[in-house]
Amino acid sequence: MTKKTYYITTPIYYPSANLHIGNTYTTVAADALARYKRFRGYDVMFLTGTDEHGQKIQRIAEEKGVTPKAYVDEIVAGIKELWKLMDISYDRFIRTTDDYHQKAVQDIFTKLYKQGDIYKGSYEGWYCTPCEAFWTETQLNDGKCPDCGRPVEKAKEEAYFFKMSKYADQLLKYIEDHPDFIQPESRKNEMVNNFLKPGLQDLCVSRTSFNWGIPVEFDPGHVIYVWIDALSNYITALGYGNDAYNDYDRYWPADVHLIGKDILRFHTIYWPIMLMALGLELPKQVFGHGWLLVDGGKMSKSKGNVVDPVVLVNHFGVDAVRYYLLREIPFGSDGLFNNEIFIKKINSDLANDLGNLVSRTVAMVDKYFEGVIPAPTAKEETDNDLISLALKTPAEVDKAIDNLRLPEALDKIWELIGRANKYIDETTPWILARDEAKKERLGTVLYNLVEALRFVSTFIAPFLPSTSVKINEQLNIELTTWESLSAFDGTRAGTKVNKGAVIFPRIDVEAKLAEFEALKEAAIKEAEAANRPAMKPLKEEITIDDFAKLDLRIAKVLHCEPIKGAKKLLKLKVDLGGEERQVVSGIAQYYRPEDLIGKSIVLVANLKPVTLRGELSQGMILAASSDDDSKLFAVTIEGELPTGSEVR
Ligand code: MSP
Repeated sequence: MTKKTYYITTPIYYPSANLHIGNTYTTVAADALARYKRFRGYDVMFLTGTDEHGQKIQRIAEEKGVTPKAYVDEIVAGIKELWKLMDISYDRFIRTTDDYHQKAVQDIFTKLYKQGDIYKGSYEGWYCTPCEAFWTETQLNDGKCPDCGRPVEKAKEEAYFFKMSKYADQLLKYIEDHPDFIQPESRKNEMVNNFLKPGLQDLCVSRTSFNWGIPVEFDPGHVIYVWIDALSNYITALGYGNDAYNDYDRYWPADVHLIGKDILRFHTIYWPIMLMALGLELPKQVFGHGWLLVDGGKMSKSKGNVVDPVVLVNHFGVDAVRYYLLREIPFGSDGLFNNEIFIKKINSDLANDLGNLVSRTVAMVDKYFEGVIPAPTAKEETDNDLISLALKTPAEVDKAIDNLRLPEALDKIWELIGRANKYIDETTPWILARDEAKKERLGTVLYNLVEALRFVSTFIAPFLPSTSVKINEQLNIELTTWESLSAFDGTRAGTKVNKGAVIFPRIDVEAKLAEFEALKEAAIKEAEAANRPAMKPLKEEITIDDFAKLDLRIAKVLHCEPIKGAKKLLKLKVDLGGEERQVVSGIAQYYRPEDLIGKSIVLVANLKPVTLRGELSQGMILAASSDDDSKLFAVTIEGELPTGSEVR
């Protein structure tokens, strides 16, 4: 019998040097689903990748003085590293710069053009460069991009258009006939009522103002505008229109495109219409998850509130981060990230509930049975509650996962963990251990705990893969099959457990928060330092004797006036103690004459006199200026000193 397939995709990511914790959510959630389905026996294809074209990339690469390809290569390597760190088990990684993809996209474009779905026209609209999206006047929000809130620019250019409206009714009918196609329900209504029903505008699908994109084959001055290029990845990665892969028949249509709510419109309107025009089946489901917000709202570089997943993983371990993401973003709505809630959650759910259950169970087997798991020979009525909960959990988790309700699946698993902890309190093994006659009962209690942990470790494997491995190591079992969860007897008595390290050490909340605060301050300072312009190189080294040749003196400005015809110069009369001198100084742009009168300045007093614009200058005033000369200040002294005093 051939296995049932499960094709799950994440969006392909824009190459960004620092993906934040919110960005990683889609991929972590897709990973949990992919792992779960593999475990349930499906033939899984889990696709992710990068969306590498567009004006923004071209601009950044130009600023850095490298080719766009060299720029994205480096970033993509970093993204792959991040996925490794987050334990992402993708099966395929597509880059929109991959040759096979580029060629297939060109063919798709040409086909749509030839069949009359794409036509040439000219586009005038409001363009948001960061989002690479054109907007109509009415779509703007307060004159700004409705997606990101940044300013837009008016732009007009020759462009190709996709006749979206031609397929609108067909899509509307499809959505009505397939109630699960857009999920969650609330987002479906938003798409239908706000976009489809009011009437679809034709979509601009090519650009001429930049060239970092896939050229239109029959009109190479145009590059294919990002969404046709990007969305096609879901089929080109399977081999549609290319020979690089041969998996289209096996996996298409996708079971689910998992995406953030911000890109739902592209996936539930443009993408299905593209597929209809190509005569291809539509994905079975598009799921738009909510966002992970921080205290100040959206995470953004400009707000400086970006949470770095690498820092979190380094401090707390990958599974703590995965756990938080998967449990804290409620089905269909937004979740909140904040260090304190995060750390407290690790302490309560992972260190206390799960961690303690593991250490107490293994420690008791170790202490009372020399590490050998006893046989369950003295069952009692009181065991039934725990056992029946364990046995009904697989179906509950399955149901939650089928509805993509990941936090609910974790709720169910944690119910079992909580029940097992309660079972310890109810059966009080340490009291049983005092009475030799109760040894068999004690053995049964411990067997039940180990068996409950086998269930738990199996359930958490897709969510917290390395924790599951750690628990199995301590219990000395292999990851069991789903089928073995239909009976509460899978643990082999006689197995020797391996008492190991605590799987989630408790965190001192206050200390950790203080450490994070310090890290944040250090990072701010570092960023400030990085932004500071490089210092001008120093001049050649001199000796103290060289310096001693300078005669610097304190002088008081007695009089100051401009010099006719010389905009930059001021003429000063200064008191040098024993004598009065006239000095010409190029500081007229920075000082009004009256501002200088009365000031004690530093004069290079033994400088050979010169005549400037017909005026004798007997010395030079010291002043400090910025590199670009936008600011200048004369060097003055803080306190009172007699004029003529030496500066050394
Ligand atoms: N390149 C497009 C997708 C093209 S798919 C054919 C894109 N890339 S992205 O890098 O900006 O976003 C990747 C994913 O991160 C999206 O699913 C997006 O919704 C998600 N998130 C970005 N910020 C997020 C949060 N703060 N919280 C949760 N997910 C967020 O869009």
